Amino acid sequence: MKYFVTGITGTVVPIIVENLIKKDPDPHFYFAIRGDAKGNGIQKRFESVVKAMDLDQIAKENLVRRSRLVEIDVDEDNLGINPEVYSELIENTDKILHGAADVRFDQPYDKIRMPNVVFTLKIYDLFNAITQRRRQKGLRKATLYYISTGYAYGQYKKPIPEDFPEFHPGTPDNTYARTKAEAKAFVLDKINRLNDQIVIFEPSIIGGSAKTGKTRTYNLHYVVMMLGYLGKLPFLTSADNRLDIVPVDWVAAVISDIMAGDALHQGVLRLAAGPNGIPINYLHDEGFEFYTKNNPVPGHVIPKIRFVPRYVFNFMVQAQKNFYRAMYFCTRNPRFRKLVKGISLLEGYFPYITGYKVFENSKSQKLIEKYTSCGEAPTLQDVFDESGKRVKRGYYKKIWLSSSVKLNIFTQNPRPFT
Ligand SMILES: NC(=O)c1ccc[n+]([C@@H]2O[C@H](COP(=O)([O-])OP(=O)(O)OC[C@H]3O[C@@H](n4cnc5c(N)ncnc54)[C@H](OP(=O)(O)O)[C@@H]3O)[C@@H](O)[C@H]2O)c1
Repeated sequence: MKYFVTGITGTVVPIIVENLIKKDPDPHFYFAIRGDAKGNGIQKRFESVVKAMDLDQIAKENLVRRSRLVEIDVDEDNLGINPEVYSELIENTDKILHGAADVRFDQPYDKIRMPNVVFTLKIYDLFNAITQRRRQKGLRKATLYYISTGYAYGQYKKPIPEDFPEFHPGTPDNTYARTKAEAKAFVLDKINRLNDQIVIFEPSIIGGSAKTGKTRTYNLHYVVMMLGYLGKLPFLTSADNRLDIVPVDWVAAVISDIMAGDALHQGVLRLAAGPNGIPINYLHDEGFEFYTKNNPVPGHVIPKIRFVPRYVFNFMVQAQKNFYRAMYFCTRNPRFRKLVKGISLLEGYFPYITGYKVFENSKSQKLIEKYTSCGEAPTLQDVFDESGKRVKRGYYKKIWLSSSVKLNIFTQNPRPFT
């Protein structure tokens, strides 16, 4: 199978590719990639992605041999792809995986629309050209796999439905959710009106691996845990709210099974913990107990986090932001501006914690059981061990351990953690 893949320098897509190289007997990849802000070119970036992959040397060499890099620029027509290469893509591609997106929560709408909406529109143009070409040649249809997010549904007062072929998002939590909702609506319309072969994946929050607890980037719950540990988050709210976090290796296993299995070609698959989501106070209590017992930074006393009503929490956050803003205005000390920026960034995450977010997942779970070798997402309480046995609360412990290592680096007070 020949795949055109976006998002290979991200967190999730490389793990899907690690899986595909094992599951597809004859995979070939075109990777859409761009240079980075540090001046690293596409070749160098790809080499570091492959180096970091959880594959043995032979598999890595095999992947490199089967890969072709396609430099892209989303601002340009046809993604800025060289015309000859673009024609080659139309001629050869069987499947597109569109996993690239700007996942920051604090970006202005006009800026984030390009990587999240316009990028998807341009990927669809390529998919459409491939579809037409294959029709002319009498070949099997191509499939587009698009990674959306459960959070595209925005604010919901009741459980977020699996309403495919419908989609009725609530008010978006941030510009990320808004643009992901726009892109999903666009793609969904192509399924509904044109019967296109498109599969939309909707993960909830993607956490570290169920096997190791590790993630390539420390986001969301790791940031909150670290802030809590360091005493920078004396208050939290909405103790009963559930966090729906799914391990990245489970997400990658489901997506790669669907892609390599080549049997499900249309629909929406929600990748969520559903009723197994974990309440925030449970997460807090377990983390507090673990860190107290295994203090990763010697001498550091972990302040207890106090839970307050949501309106008090939001008021305190706003008051603190306004205070730092005023301090910056009076002193022009850049530290205060940085603090305002930090709070604004965290505010993007607050809806995930303070808002009611419960995802229905029973329909998707049936499809996952039918089309993949994966069961339910191992949630925060459970992981599967090497022999496939469910271990209660295993994932937790691994996350604490892995974030402890990060804490050591973060505080520059390294101590090997046992
Ligand atoms: N992580 C989660 O918790 C989560 C949950 C639900 C859904 N998702 C979805 O899963 C997908 C992968 O997420 P992730 O966590 O792996 O994201 P990530 O680590 O931030 O990676 C994003 C990828 O998109 C690429 N990208 C962004 N803007 C681009 C642009 N303008 N041109 C070219 N490439 C661009 C990045 O390339 P550069 O390295 O060049 O910037 C990178 O490869 C996304 O669609 C996201 O919306 C993620």
